[in-house]
Amino acid sequence: MKLAARISRISVSKTMAVMEAALRLREQGIDVVDFGPGEPDFPTPENIKQAGIRAIQNDFTKYTAIGGIKELKKAIVEKHAGDFGSKYDVSECIVNFGGKHALFNVFSAVVEEGDDVIIPTPYWVTFADIARFVNSNPIFVHTREADGFRLTAELLGPSLTPRTRLVVVNSPNNPSGAVLDNDEFVRIARLCSDRDIFVVSDECYSHFLYDGRKPFSIGGHQELKNHVIIAGSVSKTYAMTGWRIGYVLAAPEIIQAVIKLQSHSTSNPTSISQKAALEALTGPQDSVGKMLAEYAKRRDFVLNRLRAIPGVRCAEPGGAFYAYPNISAAFGRGSIRDSVDFSARLLEKAHVAVTPGEAFGTTDHVRISYATSMEQLDKGIGRIREFMEFL
Ligand SMILES: Cc1ncc(COP(=O)(O)O)c(C=O)c1O
Repeated sequence: MKLAARISRISVSKTMAVMEAALRLREQGIDVVDFGPGEPDFPTPENIKQAGIRAIQNDFTKYTAIGGIKELKKAIVEKHAGDFGSKYDVSECIVNFGGKHALFNVFSAVVEEGDDVIIPTPYWVTFADIARFVNSNPIFVHTREADGFRLTAELLGPSLTPRTRLVVVNSPNNPSGAVLDNDEFVRIARLCSDRDIFVVSDECYSHFLYDGRKPFSIGGHQELKNHVIIAGSVSKTYAMTGWRIGYVLAAPEIIQAVIKLQSHSTSNPTSISQKAALEALTGPQDSVGKMLAEYAKRRDFVLNRLRAIPGVRCAEPGGAFYAYPNISAAFGRGSIRDSVDFSARLLEKAHVAVTPGEAFGTTDHVRISYATSMEQLDKGIGRIREFMEFL
């Protein structure tokens, strides 16, 4: 069957493939330790769930404004201002169906066919596929493991050309957990702004930072506002992945363009979820701190245990809930050639699901999500150790 070229340019998310393989083993009754999922293992906090229930009971179940209800947009800009010192107006905000949808809409609104889109590696797989879908050229800038996978203006500079339309920055990063130095982030954004290039900042993990670091947003820099586009989400911060609420903060022209697109595609994000997100942003925030404290404990545990495995190196994740160990010491042993082989054999022999680095643009690593219990982390990393020792 002949399908549209744009759909042939993209593939099903490789992170989903791992989830499916693990599920198949589980269905056979096998005890699989799953380090694949990129979502919090905590339930959505009770106050947020209740807000959703109230929305249904109060018949808040009809269409809303295409770009989301005004109270929610106000809550988003006010929370962003409080957390990061930004000054967005409600007209500079649109609510979407999750951060992924926010990014998809932004790319569709600002990227022309044939433009270059700069994506630092390792990258969240969706960035590259959306770039391909809109028929732009994803250009990968390789960050260095030895520098903790942090992008710098120096690394980025040589890749910027008159064809560059936007640069994607994701800090804290999925999959490496890398957190950009704040001053470096500003340098990167200035470099782009001076050349009339957009910076899309994916702030999905912005509240999950370790070692007492304060959340930062490039959106707090007014002078860069015309070239900065924020893609945010309540999915991870409030353990709300299934509710599907994200947002864009950007110049009004971009917001209007996204509203136009959304008016013909999804219309408004789910009314019930909007009320739940409103409660998430304006209600008690203690659940965020509790989740962060738990992730911090897990991060230290995972990092120490991984680094104790002979041959494994692991850059320190400064945020998010992923570790990105280098497992290339296993290459050439037991017919393992790359991280895809490694992940497949690990799942088959040790029943541990990890995501191969190939999904994120590097070959020597696997991603471990520590959004799972300490017990599972202990069991799974123990199995990885044994697997590596007996290869
Ligand atoms: C870097 C990054 N951005 C955006 C998202 C999108 O999340 P959602 O669409 O649930 O808001 C994810 C989800 O895994 C992510 O890892």
